[in-house]
Amino acid sequence: MRELLNRMHEWMTNYMKSFYTDDEEVQRGILIKETHTGYVTANCVELTKSLRLQKHAVELAEIIGLFHDAGRFRQYSLYKTFNDADSEDHAELSLQVIDELEFFKELSAEDFAIVKFAIQNHNKKTVAPTDSARKFLFAKILRDADKLDIYRVLEPFLAQENVDKMPNFIKAGGNLVANISPDFVENFVTGKQADYRKIRTNGDRKIVRLMWLYDINFAWTMRKIVERGYIDKIVSNLPMDERIAEGVRRLKAHVENKLKEF
Ligand SMILES: [Fe+2]
Repeated sequence: MRELLNRMHEWMTNYMKSFYTDDEEVQRGILIKETHTGYVTANCVELTKSLRLQKHAVELAEIIGLFHDAGRFRQYSLYKTFNDADSEDHAELSLQVIDELEFFKELSAEDFAIVKFAIQNHNKKTVAPTDSARKFLFAKILRDADKLDIYRVLEPFLAQENVDKMPNFIKAGGNLVANISPDFVENFVTGKQADYRKIRTNGDRKIVRLMWLYDINFAWTMRKIVERGYIDKIVSNLPMDERIAEGVRRLKAHVENKLKEF
């Protein structure tokens, strides 16, 4: 499969470059997604290796990471936004791109179905029910690999004084004030996932990123998130009160338990 993967990498590199533009704001978005694609692909490989899966599984994870956001480029060129609610579900757009590519026919039917399932489910609230343990496994791998990199992308914009530098496609869906909406505080304290579509403030955006930690599947990913200081950095940039502190305690207990898994 290495030879096929080389062709896939080459195709994806050229595909991403075909969206380069002189428009500075658009170019910034394209480059962020190009870098994100590289990191998510690497995260998929590393995470799959950490699970001691065989070489074929590692290569399949590499394909999944490489193509997971292929639809982002079409989305941005068509709609000038990365906000799915304002345009189209970018995972569905990724599947459209994949379906047009001849070299995917070189995968077995089972592997191709796994690739599509993982990509389709990477940006949904939960993974769709499936009878296939392999489909479920690769969907979980991609979701972790993707989240780990989104923490990296968002890190520079966490401090309130840097919020002005936040590109439009990150701040979409909420204004820039620091406070947290009451329903987001409530969800955080009770450990429920918040509804992205209800994000109103910059504080809400940070709470959503913290709530993601309840949806991290593997201890490997949690360890990376902790080691890189993403949690502490988000928490130290939250407007703190007793309720939020309670939510943070609950969250930290969850993180500790996840780290013990192996
Ligand atoms: Fe995505």
